[in-house]
Amino acid sequence: MIAGIIGSGAMGAGIAQVIATAGNRVYLLDAHSETLEKAGRNIRSGLDRSVLKGTLAQDKADEIFNNINLTQDYATFSECDIVIEAIIEDLQLKQQLFRELNLFVSDSCVLASNTSSLSIASIASVCSNPERVIGIHFFNPATIMQLVEIVPAVQTKPGLEMEVKALVRSWGKLPVIVKDTPGFIVNRVARPFYGEAIRIMEEGIADCSTIDWAMTTLGGFKMGPFALMDFIGHDVNYRVTESVFASFFYDPRYKPSFTQKRLFEAGYFGKKTGRGFYAYHEGAVIPEPIKDENAGRKIMERIVAMLINEAAEAVAMNIASPADLELAMTKGVNYPKGLLAWADEWGIEKVISILDGLYHEYHEDRYRVSVLLRRMVKEKKSFFQPVMA
Ligand SMILES: NC(=O)c1ccc[n+]([C@@H]2O[C@H](COP(=O)([O-])OP(=O)(O)OC[C@H]3O[C@@H](n4cnc5c(N)ncnc54)[C@H](O)[C@@H]3O)[C@@H](O)[C@H]2O)c1
Repeated sequence: MIAGIIGSGAMGAGIAQVIATAGNRVYLLDAHSETLEKAGRNIRSGLDRSVLKGTLAQDKADEIFNNINLTQDYATFSECDIVIEAIIEDLQLKQQLFRELNLFVSDSCVLASNTSSLSIASIASVCSNPERVIGIHFFNPATIMQLVEIVPAVQTKPGLEMEVKALVRSWGKLPVIVKDTPGFIVNRVARPFYGEAIRIMEEGIADCSTIDWAMTTLGGFKMGPFALMDFIGHDVNYRVTESVFASFFYDPRYKPSFTQKRLFEAGYFGKKTGRGFYAYHEGAVIPEPIKDENAGRKIMERIVAMLINEAAEAVAMNIASPADLELAMTKGVNYPKGLLAWADEWGIEKVISILDGLYHEYHEDRYRVSVLLRRMVKEKKSFFQPVMA
């Protein structure tokens, strides 16, 4: 199997390394020669570090590196079985690339995009044979994150997603299949983790560190929402929220917050700029949380109920199978358990009661309960446990 990767930035370089590690020849291309050379140097030094740490044998490191061919010549792609695009997130640039790619690849070559937020249908639409186009969405850093979302477009040849799934598995990754809808699985279902946490803070119910404490200590999440947003960066996290909101035709469930928009506008991107929800300069201290178990549990349950509702809605709309959804949230964003399994554990009535309580209080559409959850209660069903008599 020979792969071509276009764009040698953070994602492209990582994807090239993943595929090369599985023993395949890779052509890594970038429009900018300095970026391409830098990617090559970074891959080499990363591999050398692993050798020094004793986690990789020298000959394996050499083999991986030798499998990667840096190029600026599209003609090399004539040999490729698959080409994955990982250039900047700009629809016009991606469309221009896909229009031209047809000239360089064989008729059987699969064309994939690593886009996080654009529709695969819109990218495929410019190709003369759009049935060979598919989304293959890796997570950052691609060498470490196991999950890969596979996104067939409306034009994609039926069955191609299963072939690509097997291929991605052969690269040592965990693939899930998802419909071509905004945010795919992870970036859609995770929205309330951030949005509802900010809402609770904006209303003055609790401060950032108390909400983070509730989500980590009582909810079992590895990081609280505010620490995580500061870590991801508000430039990235705010933009994803805004893009998902617009792509869902302004459904209030995905409404961004002014608090985060202002941090973004101020350049307070989080950890990387030294300031976000928290301060990160020398000697900065994270405020002590108020560790009131009852109040904390209410906060945690409100956010988790919103997450479960989002997951249930994705199942109701056939965005992904329940099994793939659970895999995506546990492997893609390291949730302590699958959201549907969480619903089973609590009982679906409890989830509905929390959300209906919020709906009655606020009269806002963001708290509407997924029809699937109501139907399941009526039919005495659960997601994975045996049906109750
Ligand atoms: N960074 C993430 O966390 C992440 C995660 C998943 C998916 N993605 C998606 O992956 C893609 C790449 O993201 P990134 O973070 O690696 O970006 P990046 O800016 O680090 O890298 C993009 C690279 O593409 C090159 N490039 C731009 N236009 C080109 C062209 N026409 N031909 C060839 N090379 C070109 C640039 O020189 C640059 O090296 C985007 O679609 C992004 O949405 C990013």
